[in-house]
Amino acid sequence: MHPSKTDLLQKATHFLQQYFVENGKQGFNQRLHQVNAEISNDGTYLLTEEELTYGAKLAWRNSNRCIGRLFWKSLKVRDRRSLSSPEEIFADLMEHLDFATNAGKIRSAISIYQAADRYPRVRILNKQLVRFAGYLLPNGQVLGDPDSLQFTRFCHALGWESVGTAFDLLPVVIQVEGEAPKWFTIPEEKVLRVPIIHPEYPWLERMNIQWYAVPVISDMRLEMGGISFTCAPFNGWYMLTEIAVRNLADAHRYNLLPQLAEKMGLDTRHVRTLWKDKALLVLQEAVLHSFQEKGITLVDHHSASEQFLEFCRVEEAKGRKVQADWSWIVPPTAGSTLGVFHREWENQVLSPNFFYQEVPRQVLFENEENLKECPFHHG
Ligand code: ARG
Repeated sequence: MHPSKTDLLQKATHFLQQYFVENGKQGFNQRLHQVNAEISNDGTYLLTEEELTYGAKLAWRNSNRCIGRLFWKSLKVRDRRSLSSPEEIFADLMEHLDFATNAGKIRSAISIYQAADRYPRVRILNKQLVRFAGYLLPNGQVLGDPDSLQFTRFCHALGWESVGTAFDLLPVVIQVEGEAPKWFTIPEEKVLRVPIIHPEYPWLERMNIQWYAVPVISDMRLEMGGISFTCAPFNGWYMLTEIAVRNLADAHRYNLLPQLAEKMGLDTRHVRTLWKDKALLVLQEAVLHSFQEKGITLVDHHSASEQFLEFCRVEEAKGRKVQADWSWIVPPTAGSTLGVFHREWENQVLSPNFFYQEVPRQVLFENEENLKECPFHHG
C-alpha cells in the first residue's frame, strides 16, 4: 500500500498523463514537475479536486466486473478529504444517502474521505452502508441475511441491539486506526425500503419480503495515481438480478425459492419439474414490478446488457480496449438471450480502480475478548 517514491512517481505520471490527455488539458509538464517535487519532499502528493473527480470516474470505467459502466461520466464525486472523525464521516454519509436516493430517481455517487497516506487512517467496516442483519437461531436456521451473520455478531459485541426481524438495518461501523470502532444507527427515514409485491399473486405481498433501493459499497479501496483511499463508499442503482436472482434466491442468502414454489403449487420433489426456474421468474417479476410501481430506478438485465455493449462501442470508437470479467458481466440468469453472453473481453486490471481490502481482524473475531485483543488491522 505504500509505494516507494519512484514507484509512486511512475504511477502519478501515468495517471496525470491520462487525465491531461483525455481532458485535452494544457500544463502537464508543469504539473508533473510540481508533483515530483512534492513526492521528493513528502513521499506523497495531493491530487487536485479535478484530478480526484476524474480519477474516481476512471476507476468506475475500469471496473471489469461492472455491467453499468456506460454511465461512468455521470458519477457525482464528493470530495470529502477534509473529513476524518467517525462522527463527521457518518453525518456526511447520511447526506450521501439522501443525494443518491433522490426520492427514487437514483444518482450514482462516491464520497472520498481521507487518503491512506495521511494519518490516522479510517475505514468503514460494513460491506455496504445499508444492509440487513442475520441471526443464527437455536434451531440452526437463519433469520435475516446469512451473509451478515459475522458482521451482525460483531455489531452485537460493540453493544448494538437488534430488533429481531428478517430485515433489521445494521448500524454503520467506522474505525479510525488505533481507536475503538464507533457504531451509528442510520435513521429509518434515510433508507428507501421497497416492499416486494406481485401484480398477479397477492400471496407474495403476504410473504413480507423487502429490499432496499440503494446499494452503497463501503469496504473497497479506491486507487488512483498511486494514492489509495480506504474510505471511499460509492453507489449505483440495482440491476434486477442482483436482488431477485441472488440476494433473495441464493440458497446461502434469503433462499426464498422453496417457499415461493410451495405457494405456487409446484412439485418440488424433483428438479426436473423446473420449479426453481419457475419460482425465480415470479420473483423477478415481483421485484421489477415493486420498484417500477414506486418509481425507483432499477435496470433489468436485458437493458443492462444492451447498455454495456453500447459502452463497448463508445470505448472502442475512442481507441480504448474494454477490459471485462465475463463471469461477472453475464447476468446470473437468461444468459444466452443477452448480447453480452456472446462476446469475450480481455480482463486486465487497469488503474485507477477499486480493490478489495482485507476484512479487519476484529470483524472476524467477533467475541468481546478477542475484540479487545486485536488491534485494528489494515488491509
Ligand atoms: N450485488 C450487490 C448487492 O446485491 C451490489 C453490488 C453493486 N451493484 C450495483 N448495482 N451498483 O447488494
